[in-house]
Amino acid sequence: MSVDLSARADVVELMDDPDADADALGRTYQRFGAVNAIVSRPGRLYRQDIRPRAARRRLRILDIGAGGGDLCRYLAHRLRRDGLGADITALDADERAIRWASAHDDGAGIRYRHAFSGDLVAEGDTYDVVLSNHVLHHLEPAELRTVLDDSRTLAGSRGLVSHHDIARSRLAYTAFAAGTWPLARNLLAGSFIRVDGLLSIRRSYTPRELAAVAPSGWEVRSHLPARLELRWEGADGRP
Ligand SMILES: C[S@@+](CC[C@H](N)C(=O)[O-])C[C@H]1O[C@@H](n2cnc3c(N)ncnc32)[C@H](O)[C@@H]1O
Repeated sequence: MSVDLSARADVVELMDDPDADADALGRTYQRFGAVNAIVSRPGRLYRQDIRPRAARRRLRILDIGAGGGDLCRYLAHRLRRDGLGADITALDADERAIRWASAHDDGAGIRYRHAFSGDLVAEGDTYDVVLSNHVLHHLEPAELRTVLDDSRTLAGSRGLVSHHDIARSRLAYTAFAAGTWPLARNLLAGSFIRVDGLLSIRRSYTPRELAAVAPSGWEVRSHLPARLELRWEGADGRP
């Protein structure tokens, strides 16, 4: 039977279960890097939004819902390779993610925080770039509003906020199902990646749906393949 993708599905991912198997969760965090390299294309984010800003000053970067921290490590690595620097914070509301990510920092020098974005707002933190990847679809409407408001506050008047996620579509679902099927018994074995990836697509927004729930001032951009970005740029935050 074909999966209904006509509206966002109210489903819970295996990794969000507080009683999820610890080994499988660890393997899931570990595999995020390989999966994100293909589906999230962090190189584009780096070239278009991070490197031009980092060339002007040492950046403060915040990744909300950093999971296993692979995006933070990737950005730290690319910046170092280009002779640039940044202070990068990986924040996650799930202590298990932060524990795993900080144990696998691999010399990247990331700052890890088990916290909500509101905690950083209360501490008066500010960042040049506030990011997330695959987090928007996890959030209930009130949480989404809070994370967006907090992101803007944390980016101040000059910063950039760039939230990335999957765009729900039949093509995304079919391509992910087909692309991960041969990997289910090897690379992805013992992880939640395949099951949660398919649930994530069912739970994610279309660009039109996201534009309808985003507060004013936010821009929705579509990227290939099946990606969306919810973006807010401060008045003089452009590189
Ligand atoms: C699918 S994972 C994505 C992890 C990582 N960003 C990546 O792309 O691989 C979503 C993460 O968001 C975290 N999360 C969900 N709601 C959050 C919130 N309100 N604040 C911070 N983190 C949150 C979850 O704990 C989880 O680690």
